[in-house]
Amino acid sequence: MKRTLIKHVLASTEYGSTVMVAGWVRTRRDSKGGFSFLEINDGSAFSGLQIIVPGELDNYESDVLRLTIGSAVAVEGELVESPGAGQSVEVHAARVRAFGFADPEEYPLQKKRISFEKLRELAHLRARTNTFGAVARVRNALAYATHKFYQERDFLYLHTPMITSSDAEGAGEMFQVTTLDLAAPPRLDGEVDYSEDFFGKPTYLTVSGQLGAETYALALDRVYTFGPTFRAENSNTRRHLAEFWMIEPEVAFADLADNADLAEDYVRYLFRYILDRCSDDLEFFNKWVDDGLLARLASITDTDFERITYTEAVEVLEKADAEFEYPVNWGADLQSEHERYLTEVAYGKPLIVTDYPADIKAFYMRRNDDGKTVAAMDVLVPSVGEIVGGSQREERHDVLLDSIRAKGLPEEHYWWYLDLRRFGSVPHSGFGLGFGRLVQFATGMQNIRDVIPFPRTPNSAEF
Ligand code: 4AD
Ligand code: MG
Repeated sequence: MKRTLIKHVLASTEYGSTVMVAGWVRTRRDSKGGFSFLEINDGSAFSGLQIIVPGELDNYESDVLRLTIGSAVAVEGELVESPGAGQSVEVHAARVRAFGFADPEEYPLQKKRISFEKLRELAHLRARTNTFGAVARVRNALAYATHKFYQERDFLYLHTPMITSSDAEGAGEMFQVTTLDLAAPPRLDGEVDYSEDFFGKPTYLTVSGQLGAETYALALDRVYTFGPTFRAENSNTRRHLAEFWMIEPEVAFADLADNADLAEDYVRYLFRYILDRCSDDLEFFNKWVDDGLLARLASITDTDFERITYTEAVEVLEKADAEFEYPVNWGADLQSEHERYLTEVAYGKPLIVTDYPADIKAFYMRRNDDGKTVAAMDVLVPSVGEIVGGSQREERHDVLLDSIRAKGLPEEHYWWYLDLRRFGSVPHSGFGLGFGRLVQFATGMQNIRDVIPFPRTPNSAEF
């Protein structure tokens, strides 16, 4: 018989029909009347399915009474409208097949609550908890909605390389990729001889797909990437990962205002999508993780984002009645505490901050006429702070070359990027949305390590 996912069984009204389901046991209660209740979950829905197992089954004692939390089981039986509160249907088992048992003395996920920190050490099992199942479903919905949003708007999905020889952000935070023997690398005049390395030169894991996306936007008009990116920055915060996924749209003939409009439409679309499709999971987060979550998501879908310049943001922060750990002054980068003050306290909604000082932003951002700022934009949201970073790109060859030199970057690495400004250059813009931070915001989960299956952070790459 064909298996039905529990989410479809829960939505079914075909009472009296026979169904087969399978999953992992969440609870087992044995009744004095000689039968048992099982709740099983297969991850397809937040809720599990209640199964009533009669004691008359052949394997009741040998198997059913050994099913403890975490055991795997398949059940065939009749779908019945449930008399009990809390569920609409249940299944009266005619056959139970036990797969793997889970010794309750050994299996770590028992009834009592385990901290998120502890669960990080059990990342291979945590997907079986309510929280991590819900995170996985919301993460999946946001990924699907991302493709839907861009595809509906004629963007082309582009795969940019993970291994690269150029630093897309120019910040030097790259992991090196090499096949050289680190204990005894080949040397030439005392230096490591990279001509003997796999690619014949030093290569790295990319920090961003942007530069590749620009080459395609300048041919195909609008593209987006959605892939993993890597940063070797030693940031042990609740919003940094060493490996995270990023969505990077890039649009030709678009300026900074167009870019901000796209980012705002996209973010609002995502939250509307999950409010419509993931209500059980979001209600769970609202109840157990962050009681302001649903109100915050709903308010974002119908409020316009505020747009201010960096200079205005600094003025607001200087006047703020708040104690900051890091000082605020024009020219300094905004810290997470400043970002949160602006979006949570000063404006109480998402904020798009534009026109940052050139000195604190990447080489590729378009220089403004004031000579001091660039056409940058960050989208800030409550609780998480920066969720999107983007800009209008410098499309003028000589200005770009000047910025590369001013930042002390090796211009020979960027020859092809400069070429785009020599042939058919046009104004163009794009941004990167950090997928982990998005899922954090969408679920209310405090730590980015708990919204990706296997987090990579300094000193941590188990699993
Ligand atoms: O602001 P960032 O560094 O911008 C770029 O990489 C541009 N190339 C994007 C573009 O214009 N195409 O990173 C973009 C976003 C940030 O706003 C943040 O949400 C996320 O990526 N991000 C991180 N997320 C988790 N861990 C980290 N270490 C992150 N660094 C950036
Ligand atoms: Mg940024």
